[in-house]
Amino acid sequence: MAKAISGPEFFIGKGDDALISFGSGQPDMPPPAEAFDILRTYSSFKYGLIQGEEALRVALVPQYPNAKPEHFVITNGASEAIDLVLRVIAEKADVPTQSRKVLLPRPYYYSYPFNVRYAGMAPVFYDLEKGKIHLDTFSEMLKECCAVVINSPSNPTGTVQEVETLKKIEKLCADKNIWVISDEVYKDIIYVRENYLLQGPRVVTINSFSKTYAMCGLRVGYVYSQNEELITKIIEMKTHTAMNTSIVSQMMAQAALSAPASYIAHNLDTWKSRRDLMYEGMKDLDLDLWNPEGAFYVLPKFKNSSEVVNDLYYKYQVITYDGAWFGAPERVRFSYALDASKITEGLRRLKEFLGKEYAGY
Ligand SMILES: Cc1ncc(COP(=O)(O)O)c(C=O)c1O
Repeated sequence: MAKAISGPEFFIGKGDDALISFGSGQPDMPPPAEAFDILRTYSSFKYGLIQGEEALRVALVPQYPNAKPEHFVITNGASEAIDLVLRVIAEKADVPTQSRKVLLPRPYYYSYPFNVRYAGMAPVFYDLEKGKIHLDTFSEMLKECCAVVINSPSNPTGTVQEVETLKKIEKLCADKNIWVISDEVYKDIIYVRENYLLQGPRVVTINSFSKTYAMCGLRVGYVYSQNEELITKIIEMKTHTAMNTSIVSQMMAQAALSAPASYIAHNLDTWKSRRDLMYEGMKDLDLDLWNPEGAFYVLPKFKNSSEVVNDLYYKYQVITYDGAWFGAPERVRFSYALDASKITEGLRRLKEFLGKEYAGY
């Protein structure tokens, strides 16, 4: 009997030539050449600073207004950054027990609810409308929470929030002393405008080298915050958990930052043409979806989404992720982190599936 597909862990790391993977959100383009150049001369293998290599933190400073190297902690991807920030917020003395709740967007990146629960807090969800934040719902639900997660551009919706909305959120949260965890890992993959960096006394920015520099497996991300107390607590927690992030990976990340701006611009052009291919292809198949404004995901509607994911994998060798894993039942997430010829072949298989199995659901 075929093994049940229970969640993203079933697919992560899987892949062979026959498979078309619209699954994992991992860029398939190479990291910048600069990242590899350092390997020939690299020779340091001792423990590194828990906060992260000074040279990398210095190199990040120009990306953030009024930033200093001490405002950053380099982590094992954005994943560790989110985990540490939530656990530190949960631990902080000024969080009363009754407000150990974190407001999450729905659909959400699948790890957020787990991260919140692992931190001993409870997730509360604000429903996005076609991927956009509705401010009335948001501010109503915000009242009971000590922190909120914003993810623009979003995984899995591919939407980018309006700057006006983000500015109102900054004010709402500053007035109420609520932490804003702004996950901006797709900040360099936006098709509609420049990224808007959320700012404020309790804003914590999460970022990563996984998407912009196509370095997922090297595991380099970071927390940026001007709140020194928070940064100190994060360093303390990281000292007693993962310790330093791999120093070779950090040096490769620093070298990646020195790549010419054309590296990011070229990748963005590639993402955009794949987005167009995917969106137009799905519209031609009469699927119900919105046009992504950033990141590299589409989230079309499907009835019986878990059956769709099963059939596409076992009968058509196409990997997709069930929307239910992201709080979006009756949708399926397709990542377009694969080249145009594979996207075209994937759409061909999808068309066949729609005409055969799906027509009979
Ligand atoms: C919204 C979002 N946040 C965080 C992550 C984790 O990224 P990292 O590889 O840097 O841990 C991902 C990865 O897909 C993501 O989509």
